[in-house]
Amino acid sequence: QHPEVERLLQAYEVTAKLYHFLLKNTEHGKAAMEYLRSRGFTDKMIDQFQIGYAPNRWDTLVQFLEKRSFELAEMEKGGLLSARHEQGGYVDRFRDRVMFPIWNRNGKVIAFAGRIIGEGQPKYLNSPETRLFNKSRTLYNLHQAKPAIRKLGQAVLFEGYGDVIAAWEAGVQNATAGMGTALTEHQATMLKGLCDEVIICYDGDSAGQAAALKNFPILENAGLHVKVGLLNEGMDPDDFIRQHGSDRFKRQIIDGAVSTVKFKLIYLRKNHILLEEEGRIAYSREALKIIAPLSSPTEREVYLREVSSEVKVDYETLKQECNLLRQSLQ
Ligand code: GTP
Ligand code: MN
Ligand code: MN
Ligand code: MN
Ligand code: MN
Repeated sequence: QHPEVERLLQAYEVTAKLYHFLLKNTEHGKAAMEYLRSRGFTDKMIDQFQIGYAPNRWDTLVQFLEKRSFELAEMEKGGLLSARHEQGGYVDRFRDRVMFPIWNRNGKVIAFAGRIIGEGQPKYLNSPETRLFNKSRTLYNLHQAKPAIRKLGQAVLFEGYGDVIAAWEAGVQNATAGMGTALTEHQATMLKGLCDEVIICYDGDSAGQAAALKNFPILENAGLHVKVGLLNEGMDPDDFIRQHGSDRFKRQIIDGAVSTVKFKLIYLRKNHILLEEEGRIAYSREALKIIAPLSSPTEREVYLREVSSEVKVDYETLKQECNLLRQSLQ
């Protein structure tokens, strides 16, 4: 391995240890610790995920790395420090943030996500892409989730770091996340190398639902079977687990995950008012566009029957229209 890569890995490793130590054992970390506690993070979760705290100072990490003979310019290029514009020199990149280390698949720290304590912008400050860290090729927690993903033949994909951590603690250990909601072909291929099925469990807000929809083809094109865990409006998986407990999360959200077709129909349904004729017609037209391309006649029948009862239109009528649409697609 290239010596610069080797040094950078070393620097990330000691930095993660420093931040973790500062959170757990010093006065600097007290407010961050209280914040984590208020969000339900236990000591066990903090240790397992090596959560840390970057103090509200400009030179904590600068001094720490300097003392250990790391080149500051190299550390800036590696994303741990920032260059000062006018006076020159370097300052800590992360200040007054809760630090979530991000690992490569071998369990080496290659980046950080720094969350602001409480409200503020940006909510998460991430490491820039470096020789170590390629966002589109990284999945959070994959190094710890790999065995469970292989064993179960299934991965659960979340939006946020906190969701993965809460899920892990709830016993869902095949939990991973992209870097935000965008998912790449490469990440999908990485998952396909470990399992055949992915449950997308994104936030129950419109952003989360839209992101889920966008990621279906990316996962499906990699050969993965996709299901969706459904959360109520405004709920994140970590909120759900805290409010309803891990058993209900596993039963209702994971075991109760629905097919992508079902998800698309539910999503569509939200945008139509079925009390009015126009709404029922528009909804069935759009629903047919989802159902008609399905290759399995059984699947088509199951969904058509559901739509039929929702819009109060005879099944045979819908089937006829569905077949017409199918023909026009071929
Ligand atoms: P909490 O509020 O701490 O529970 O965060 P969350 O994970 O629920 O965040 P949210 O649902 O708003 O966003 C999902 C994911 O998108 C986060 O985990 C981040 O990966 C990413 N994200 C959110 N906000 C930002 C941001 O301000 N900057 C960057 N770079 N990423 C963000
Ligand atoms: Mn979200
Ligand atoms: Mn969220
Ligand atoms: Mn959240
Ligand atoms: Mn949120």
